[in-house]
Amino acid sequence: MFLNKEEEKMLSGEYGTATAKAMKLLVNLGDIYKAEKMVEIKSAQAAGVSYKSIGDPGLEFLQGFASEGAKMRVPTFLNPAGMDLDEWKSIGFPADFAAKQNEIIDAFREMGVILTSSCTPYYWSNLPRINDRLAWSESSAVSFANSVIGAYTNREGGPSALAAGICGRTPCYGLHLDENRKPTHLINVTAELSDFADFGALGNYVGKIVKDGVPYFTGIKDGGSEELKALGAAMAASGAVAVYYVENITPKANAQQKPSEKIEFSEKERKETYERLNTGTDIDLIAFGCPHCSIKEVMDIAKKVDGKRLKKKMWVCTSKPIKALADRMGYTKTIEDAGGRVVCDTCMVVSPIEKMGIKTTGVNSGKAAQYLPGFCKQSIVFGSADELIRRGCE
Ligand code: F3S
Repeated sequence: MFLNKEEEKMLSGEYGTATAKAMKLLVNLGDIYKAEKMVEIKSAQAAGVSYKSIGDPGLEFLQGFASEGAKMRVPTFLNPAGMDLDEWKSIGFPADFAAKQNEIIDAFREMGVILTSSCTPYYWSNLPRINDRLAWSESSAVSFANSVIGAYTNREGGPSALAAGICGRTPCYGLHLDENRKPTHLINVTAELSDFADFGALGNYVGKIVKDGVPYFTGIKDGGSEELKALGAAMAASGAVAVYYVENITPKANAQQKPSEKIEFSEKERKETYERLNTGTDIDLIAFGCPHCSIKEVMDIAKKVDGKRLKKKMWVCTSKPIKALADRMGYTKTIEDAGGRVVCDTCMVVSPIEKMGIKTTGVNSGKAAQYLPGFCKQSIVFGSADELIRRGCE
């Protein structure tokens, strides 16, 4: 593949061992996928942060990279870790897990990775612009960036996102090419989507069918940033969808040619998806924030629990800056007064909840409902926030 002078210097070791290693990784990746050149990126986003997911081998890889002097050339943001980095003790995370998790965080800090610990960095400080080139790795964030913003990113692995952050480049292949972003399936939505959970159910249903295809939705009348986030996250989890279009809503949608292969999502499919995802009854933990909550979602949950007393544990997962806003607005206090917690830096999937006595989790996320049974051995109660809070108070 073609490398410019600067990229040649990186590869030859002129900027140090870690940069040379990172560029070699990117060149190898580019060769595998027949990329013709590199593209400069505006930001990277690194997954593979939780000790639960990467274990000791991942920790050693990161420490090795850090000790070789790896430093980020472009802003590189971090995906959720396995625990709340400040409040882990009071929430009940195991101390041996916390010690390992902190070593991982130290390695990222040393490399200059910005310790956002969130899968929704686009809510604050890292909002890309349309057509920006990125190297993001969290699947729901990738889907959001490509589809809702109209930027370009492949679904990177943890090491390739880090390498891209170190070099400020990524090989130009896959979803960096417009020809690979054309819609493959037309999804005709006639079911009423009146709740965040409905968008998760739709995504969960569609992802299973289209796998790594590119869905084009018609019939969705409205959908804000939160609902589109839920839709994309669920499709990336039940399938491997990394870009989608919603007619009249997402940028670039109306310029696409509608595909001929058609899938219906009517009331029947919506109901069947709810039935399929519901595998449990007696909730131990209600967990909101997959993907991490926006301030609007935290506000909505605070309003719903205001004056109530939960008999079950409740986590509202979000990032530190959103929690700081929620603290200032009094939402955190309202949630805590009802018996819940605003949990930062982590989520119900990447934290070791199965080791914390939790067997059944109530979620309104089509992604969490997909991952929790396998990753955390959970039974699932899938429903709207209203329904989960009602059951949590019984
Ligand atoms: Fe984010 Fe965890 Fe869901 S990383 S998208 S909240 S599984």
